[in-house]
Amino acid sequence: MRKRPIIIDTDPGIDDALAIAIALFSEELDVRLITTVAGNVSLENVTLNTLRLLHFFGKDVPVAKGAAKPLIVDFVDASNVHGKTGMEGYDFPEPKEELLLSEHAVNAMRRVIMESPEPVTLVPIATLTNIALLFAMYPEVKKNIREIVMMGGSAGRGNKGVMSEFNIATDPEAAQMVFQSGLPIVMAGLDVGLKALVYPEDSEEIKTMGKVGDMAYHLFKRYRGGSFQTGLKMYDSCAVAYLLCPELFEVAETYVGVELHGSMTAGCTVVDLKGYLHKEPNTKVCIDIDGEKFREWFKDSIRKCV
Ligand code: RIB
Ligand code: CA
Repeated sequence: MRKRPIIIDTDPGIDDALAIAIALFSEELDVRLITTVAGNVSLENVTLNTLRLLHFFGKDVPVAKGAAKPLIVDFVDASNVHGKTGMEGYDFPEPKEELLLSEHAVNAMRRVIMESPEPVTLVPIATLTNIALLFAMYPEVKKNIREIVMMGGSAGRGNKGVMSEFNIATDPEAAQMVFQSGLPIVMAGLDVGLKALVYPEDSEEIKTMGKVGDMAYHLFKRYRGGSFQTGLKMYDSCAVAYLLCPELFEVAETYVGVELHGSMTAGCTVVDLKGYLHKEPNTKVCIDIDGEKFREWFKDSIRKCV
């Protein structure tokens, strides 16, 4: 079976690390490029973390550095959740620097997309700055993009602001540009991320699943995206899960826009499930997930990371 070509845009980040592992070791996905963007921690740190992960996984995927800050708003990271370096808790090997391209992420994405014999799927699991810049600089890429499957947004409450999710709220203008791109979009937001939980008994099982499982266990001990005892939120794995096991999700096609000017709501995704705005649907929103099946899928996926 032909593997589906994808580009992962990421900000590792503990939950990113597991999503990247699952994608790299899957038999269905061909990770052509990994691009980095400032988000959980600084651009330098997310890039070093990506290069460390690839060295640890033994996967020689090219990496390209992207935006160091959002388009308009000031950059605010999530080191309070992921630790100062973004991946504390495990002794990774040195970054595999030879995988780092000299090209900027946007130029590398353009090259990979335009050279691909079949349409490429973009999998942003971080702030959308690189994706917005790609569409602004090289709109021609859209003809060879199959869809965008993102972790981001929320039809309900937020985890960065009252109503805003971190990836969207960190660069709202970039997110608006992506939702207005006209491309097919799948949004795996907090509505499913908050239910994609790994419990202590899962972590103990994962710990026995080879070196990736052991790595995951040690990262989970430091991850403050939820609680080790009551459930750790595997936000970014939801985007990869949609690609590999879409039946886990309940999806609604609707219009999604990004609030840019609200004094209390800037950065939130406005998910118009009831059509009040009378706008054409532009997004498939994952509105629910089978949490129990996700747990089993997640463990099966980590088991394959050998
Ligand atoms: O809101 C969760 C998202 O923000 C995830 O992508 C996590 O890694 C952080 O980037
Ligand atoms: Ca992320």
